[in-house]
Amino acid sequence: MPNELTGTPLVPSAGASQNQAPSPETRDALGRRLKDLRISVTDRCNFRCTYCMPKEVFGPDFAFLPHQELLTFEEIARLTQVFVRHGVRKVRLTGGEPLLRRDLEVLIAMLNQIDGVEDIALTTNGSLLTLDKARRLKAAGLRRITISLDSLDNDIFTSMNDVRFPVSKVLEAIDAAKHAGLSPVKINMVVRKGTNDHCVVKMAEHFRGTGHILRFIEYMDVGNSNQWKLDEVVPAAQILEAIDSQWPLEPVSPVLPGEVAKRYRYRDGKGEIGIIASVTQPFCSGCTRARLSSEGLLYTCLFGTRGHDLRAMLREGASDEQISERLESIWTARTDRYSELRSEQTRTQRRNRVEMSHIGG
Ligand code: GTP
Ligand code: 5AD
Ligand code: SF4
Ligand code: SF4
Repeated sequence: MPNELTGTPLVPSAGASQNQAPSPETRDALGRRLKDLRISVTDRCNFRCTYCMPKEVFGPDFAFLPHQELLTFEEIARLTQVFVRHGVRKVRLTGGEPLLRRDLEVLIAMLNQIDGVEDIALTTNGSLLTLDKARRLKAAGLRRITISLDSLDNDIFTSMNDVRFPVSKVLEAIDAAKHAGLSPVKINMVVRKGTNDHCVVKMAEHFRGTGHILRFIEYMDVGNSNQWKLDEVVPAAQILEAIDSQWPLEPVSPVLPGEVAKRYRYRDGKGEIGIIASVTQPFCSGCTRARLSSEGLLYTCLFGTRGHDLRAMLREGASDEQISERLESIWTARTDRYSELRSEQTRTQRRNRVEMSHIGG
């Protein structure tokens, strides 16, 4: 079926073998399936969050990828179709800031037409999310949206995003998402000790009763740029305690195995929060996520040091069958469990890890 928005044929495939049996049971070396694909559509961002793209590293001279290096929408859709054969059902678009990629709704419409893709979600900083854009994303098939917001205090938020982007605009974006029918909106707050940890209760108070789901994320040692220190991590237990003492909470069972956020609800019925405790309570044993960078490198862990070049295969004319075989061999060999193995040594001796802004969160 041609893509309605562009009129171009959907998911061109060089030598695709149409009858190939899907193998959704592909498992890695530790028995974990491949269920989620997180696709970074750009390595650029209009924010310079100090914990992700600090200005000292991502300054005016930083060499972002030239446009021709990025996977095209057709290439992304084609790869997604191959991932679906191996079990992927959920797709999340990330960046950098994914809404910097023009006409993102065209890609969403293409992904939405792939048989087997059941869920399309987006993680954004909200800066470019108008009501009109949110409606177009929703109409194209976007099911869920996560918007990052680290504080309601404008001074703190602007110093964290480091481009003076105001809180009020992010709150408008959250409203836009809601009005476009993308509820419940998830709000991601990275908690960093000494920076915004005193904002936790205020954030909880603000979003209680709104229907939005606020998630607190432990600050992680991802990438090489943010000068992460363990003593800047606020343990999930402490965050929970701070909220529970104001508004008692109770745990909610996970909807899906392998969910990264532990869910809690307010006992007074005012909604739900999530905690992503990737440092103090790692969840590698249920990790079913693959990550595709904007230039087509496949990473099997957020803390990966090496990506597998799928773009080269695409551009050298590989068939879907060949890409599928490569994917099978990469995933079946996978042993990643970085967060579980995080040790004193890896805390101090940084490796050449991929940046979060390069493969999304
Ligand atoms: P859904 O379950 O699809 O709603 O999304 P999610 O819970 O995966 O949420 P999201 O994609 O917003 O991830 C939230 C944050 O959790 C990310 O920004 C990361 O900080 C962290 N995170 C997500 N996946 C992983 C992972 O595989 N490993 C680690 N260590 N952290 C992760
Ligand atoms: N630790 C934890 N979360 C992070 N994010 C970016 N960098 C980090 C980090 N070092 C989160 C952002 C956003 C998502 C894309 O990833 O807050 O919600
Ligand atoms: Fe901040 Fe997200 Fe941009 Fe990173 S990608 S600088 S977390 S807005
Ligand atoms: Fe998955 Fe790697 Fe995160 Fe563990 S550290 S949950 S293996 S992405």
